[in-house]
Amino acid sequence: MAASPDKSNQMEKIVSLCKRRGFLFKNSEIYGGLNGFWDYGPLGVELKRNVKAAWWQDMVTSHDDLNKVENAPEPFAMTGIDSTIIMHPQVWKCSGHYDLFHDFMVDCRESNKRYRHDQIVGRWVEAKNQKIFVSAPASENCESDIETKALKFFNIRSKNRDQLAWIGDVVNLTTISESENVLAPDAKNLNTLTEPREFNLMFKTTVGALGNADDFAFLRPETAQGIFVNFKNVIDSTRYRLPLGIAQIGKSFRNEITPRNFTFRSREFEQMEIEFFCHPDESQKWYSYWRDRRLQWYHQMGISDERLIMREHHADELAHYSIGTADIEYAFPFLPSGEYGELEGVAHRGDFDLRSHMEGKLDESSNPLSLELDEHGQPKYRGSGKDLQYRDDLTNEKYTPHVIEPSAGADRAVLAFLCEAYTEDEAPDEKGKMQTRTLMRLHPRIAPIKAAVFPLVKKDGMPEVAKEIYLQLKKDHNVFYDEKGAVGRRYRRQDEAGTPYCITIDGETMENQTVTIRDRDSLEQTRVPVADIGNEIRNRINS
Ligand code: GAP
Repeated sequence: MAASPDKSNQMEKIVSLCKRRGFLFKNSEIYGGLNGFWDYGPLGVELKRNVKAAWWQDMVTSHDDLNKVENAPEPFAMTGIDSTIIMHPQVWKCSGHYDLFHDFMVDCRESNKRYRHDQIVGRWVEAKNQKIFVSAPASENCESDIETKALKFFNIRSKNRDQLAWIGDVVNLTTISESENVLAPDAKNLNTLTEPREFNLMFKTTVGALGNADDFAFLRPETAQGIFVNFKNVIDSTRYRLPLGIAQIGKSFRNEITPRNFTFRSREFEQMEIEFFCHPDESQKWYSYWRDRRLQWYHQMGISDERLIMREHHADELAHYSIGTADIEYAFPFLPSGEYGELEGVAHRGDFDLRSHMEGKLDESSNPLSLELDEHGQPKYRGSGKDLQYRDDLTNEKYTPHVIEPSAGADRAVLAFLCEAYTEDEAPDEKGKMQTRTLMRLHPRIAPIKAAVFPLVKKDGMPEVAKEIYLQLKKDHNVFYDEKGAVGRRYRRQDEAGTPYCITIDGETMENQTVTIRDRDSLEQTRVPVADIGNEIRNRINS
């Protein structure tokens, strides 16, 4: 379970580089920050835009490149939409989020801290004729935290730790039936935790100036519902036939009880979701296809095999809408060794959402719950009553499509790419002396800056030629011009920013119109004619 010191230390280094170089900043930092909210800086915004653009290009606009569809059960179409963050409140009643999208939390009456019930662990211990459950937030060090707390509680010196009689292993707080004699994570006294209470994760807001009870609305907790409620519009306004995937990238909001691990669990984040509509008989094949294809995408974008896994959910883990889900998970450095965190879920949602939006929210056996009434005597979970079924023009068959949903987090993907890219190696400095170098080995497609252009020195006509090359490249790529300081230092700054190529204009350029292109990862320098640089950079980025 224990993380190697190197691994946890690596996360600190990544967080510090992100701030120092302008990838990520704490939100509202000058006011102390707001927990669960993060801002992207000048490099971060480019990186995130590139991740989203690569996803859109690979999944939507060039989804049918031959090498991408070779394992597809049949040809298919992909298109996109951009729906609003605030939607009709009935959407969330029928989707199930209004009732089911919650976490259980407990409050500590002594420390006034709030915890997610399932994120507290603890261990029974007996000493001085008293048996208590000592708890701590789940973490790689929780076992030693629990021991320290127990020693303090019983007033036993660490050299006498044998006086503690441990009963059983560390277990989750949710698994213990007694609520008596629990020592809360930040309390000195026993029994300060409240009973677990449900806490809906949706942010509530009001629409309009009056703000009556009837005007409440929610910030969407997923982009998916915007696609379901527009399914019919997309089919009617285009000539697409099923199978069809509808994609959307956009902000989602969840009032997470314990946002943590840098941007991993935020309260405002972006999702990249596809709802893939297909015939029910074909849905298992499409489920397998999308699981494989999405896993492959992360590999293609530079995530290594050993840090990426696909994990099929157990039946008791499935979300209320899902009849099968596989998570693509990454070994984030803030996790203990051998543990993985979710990057993306690929879910088989069956016909749950379209049927709910037609008939009203469904119960566990897929029956509409339209009989329950709200405070106005109206059916609480009424659907739209609209026919959201699909009729196949060729076969004339009418059915409610099944949906496969690859749902990725843009911020989690960015975080995984940053973690994967962070590298320290040894490279010679200007005098040939080996020095430690920090570099971000970002895939060239997502690197914030594609190339930096340097005149070797600020004289002999080199800056003029360098600026011309810079202006030429700028038409197609985000490039950076730098003429300040020693060239070695300029290289190092670009290595940290993840810039894959540095183009240097030197004495030889002035004689034979060639420049050097330095590769960030291999440090190899190749001479290329000035006239070919544009093609060379384009080919390297797309290779
Ligand atoms: N429409 C299905 C859905 O929303 P989810 O597993 O709850 O499924 C999908 O979310 C993805 O959204 C996750 O795999 C993750 O990448 C991202 N995500 C979810 N909650 C997040 C949070 N609090 N902070 C950052 N990303 C989050």
